[in-house]
Amino acid sequence: MAKKKDKSQEVETTGHQWDGIEEYNNPLPRWWLWMFYACIVWGIWYVIAYPAWPMISGATEGYKGWSTRANIAADIAEAEAANAKINAKLAGTELAMIGEDPELQVYAASAGAAVFKTWCAQCHGSGAAGAKGYPNLLDNDWLWGGDIESIHTTIRHGIRSDKDDDTRYSEMPAFGELLEKEEITAVVNYVMSLSGTPQDASLVAPGAVVYADNCAACHMEDGGGDREQGAPNLKDAIWLFGGDYDTLTQTVTYSRYGVMPPWTTRLTDAEMRAVAAYVHQLGGGE
Ligand code: HEC
Ligand code: HEC
Repeated sequence: MAKKKDKSQEVETTGHQWDGIEEYNNPLPRWWLWMFYACIVWGIWYVIAYPAWPMISGATEGYKGWSTRANIAADIAEAEAANAKINAKLAGTELAMIGEDPELQVYAASAGAAVFKTWCAQCHGSGAAGAKGYPNLLDNDWLWGGDIESIHTTIRHGIRSDKDDDTRYSEMPAFGELLEKEEITAVVNYVMSLSGTPQDASLVAPGAVVYADNCAACHMEDGGGDREQGAPNLKDAIWLFGGDYDTLTQTVTYSRYGVMPPWTTRLTDAEMRAVAAYVHQLGGGE
């Protein structure tokens, strides 16, 4: 490499030249060079100390044994230890008495809200307003009961779940196999009349006969429903599946079979109690 002095500026050049433009060969500033070496040393230390090199599954562990997973586990353990006392108190207090203890009530509502957002919102909606087939938990229309004991039982054991022997169970027959088409049309019109939905008035009287014979056992004579069997109230114009003619015909012809999982296997006693208290205080609790 030819080195030469540029006389005008007294600066060494590399000898590279393009169309008369020359490349200077200034030394790197000291401070920059030392930073550079320091970075190399730090980089080597980092690779040894922390997870760095990707392997087939995971990465090298590093001598410090640091991992985000372990950090989270430690944080969770710390939070659980901090809440252990109040969780034990919550698990040991009678459900109906939770509301009497302001400290427990506040704790249950916030812990319950967190459980709800994690485990319940995907079906019941983040605001608990529900959707078709998934009941609204904000109103005072309850399939299985709205006092805190009933809500707690529903949560523990689920509904029509084959994973829990104590699950809430009932089954509406599919009337497509039991009734004539005209009978279904008539009883649907009768059901519409119960909630004041516009209907074919001439079918209400024959529909009432079909209803008394086939439906009153579960939905009660007046259509008020039966919580023992989770049979919805048909008078209140609050529909789980829908109150229009087509949806009602579908419900009566094919029946419905709403399933909710049990939570005993996934949540602690304190968590189930907290979320029961949370749902109970949403607005519809009895
Ligand atoms: C996989 C969907 C799903 C999840 C997750 C779920 N639910 Fe449900 N839940 C349902 C369905 C479906 C019903 C209605 C079943 C029926 O038709 O009787 C129901 C019913 C209920 C009821 C009874 C309402 C009434 O009117 O009596 C309560 C209370 C309830 N759920 C609370 C919860 C809570 C609290 C959680 C979270 C721990 C939860 N649910 C998670 C699907 C779900
Ligand atoms: C063995 C009890 C039983 C009988 C008999 C029965 N039902 Fe039901 N019905 C239920 C249950 C339980 C549900 C709720 C199903 C669910 O949540 O999955 C239901 C749901 C309904 C719904 C849905 C309500 C809504 O809010 O969307 C309608 C409508 C209905 N039944 C009408 C009838 C009619 C009409 C008859 C008679 C032809 C009848 N049922 C007979 C138990 C019964």
